[in-house]
Amino acid sequence: MTMKRILALLMAVMMLTALTACGNATGPAPSSQAPVASSQAPDANDPAPAAPAGDDLIYVGFVQVGAESDWRMANTKSMQETFTEANGYKFEMVDAQQQTQKQITAIRDFIQKDVDYIVLAPNTEAGWDTVLGEAKDAGIPVIIVDRMIQTNDDSLFTAWVGSNFLQEGYDAVEALATALKNKGIDPTEGEINIVTLQGTMGSSAQIGRTDGFAEKMKEYPNWKMLDKQSGDFTQEKGQEVMEAFLKSYPDIDVVIAENDNMAFGAINAIKAAGKTCGPNGDITIVSFDAVKAAFESMIAGDMDVSVECNPLHGPRVEGIIKALEAGQSVDKIAYVEEGTFYAKDAAEIMPTRAY
Ligand code: AHR
Repeated sequence: MTMKRILALLMAVMMLTALTACGNATGPAPSSQAPVASSQAPDANDPAPAAPAGDDLIYVGFVQVGAESDWRMANTKSMQETFTEANGYKFEMVDAQQQTQKQITAIRDFIQKDVDYIVLAPNTEAGWDTVLGEAKDAGIPVIIVDRMIQTNDDSLFTAWVGSNFLQEGYDAVEALATALKNKGIDPTEGEINIVTLQGTMGSSAQIGRTDGFAEKMKEYPNWKMLDKQSGDFTQEKGQEVMEAFLKSYPDIDVVIAENDNMAFGAINAIKAAGKTCGPNGDITIVSFDAVKAAFESMIAGDMDVSVECNPLHGPRVEGIIKALEAGQSVDKIAYVEEGTFYAKDAAEIMPTRAY
């Protein structure tokens, strides 16, 4: 029996006992999301319970953003490979095609299905309070992965695990300075003209990377942001936006692409315009994610550097669920460690990459 059902049963027994003893006595019900009281919790060193079988499978409803990028596909694969029946799970995923409203509908659907856990990768940050309040009222713990939500009520989710997108934005400034040095350009000298392909507007990945870069680039007064526009994290839109940038700005020195797929689109547009990019080219390409295709692009001499964003959240979410099932407390917020990868090291590092 899953922890959610044990808690529901316990609550029912407690309420029945209280009603029997006190007639019509009433009182506030304990939060359905609260972890089991410490006196009931097993010791953290206890072995994990054996994998459940049959009806005891843990039912996980995963609300995914979409299939917009290599990163996203790796993230979906990580979840699917972790939450298998053999591992003790019934797993359902909704691909919301990058539409926040579809994600809200999917959560309501999972509430109706009475899943044991809702795992949410939110498309954008705003507008979650009502539907997550409904999940809370239904006693379904919500685990958020990857991007974050904006809320003043942190009881609406049990735990979050993902990337520090603001830090990634800061790291991209250092990455650009180093990439310029790697091609013999002093990052502190001369005007450096930059354009940015932003991700989905209002998503944590876009907000953090845009804000982090804007804040830290102030350390380089000679860097000039010519323009920023959203390519919605897809190669196709990244290419479209880059084509427009190339027409408007003849003197672009740097492209910041807020994910690898938009960088691939930008590289196509640059080549089609008869310009060059990468470590030996005129335009420096700084990207985010560091998926395998980005390493291929660096090895091919097209991309200069990619700031890592790690998509392998399946085992991390499973760790949270296992801890909750064992009555243990979990970290409310957990950041993933990430690195930065340059073209000069790409061939050596690529064989070690898992996604
Ligand atoms: O939220 C993570 C971002 O979403 C990745 O950078 C991007 O590739 C994905 O679409």
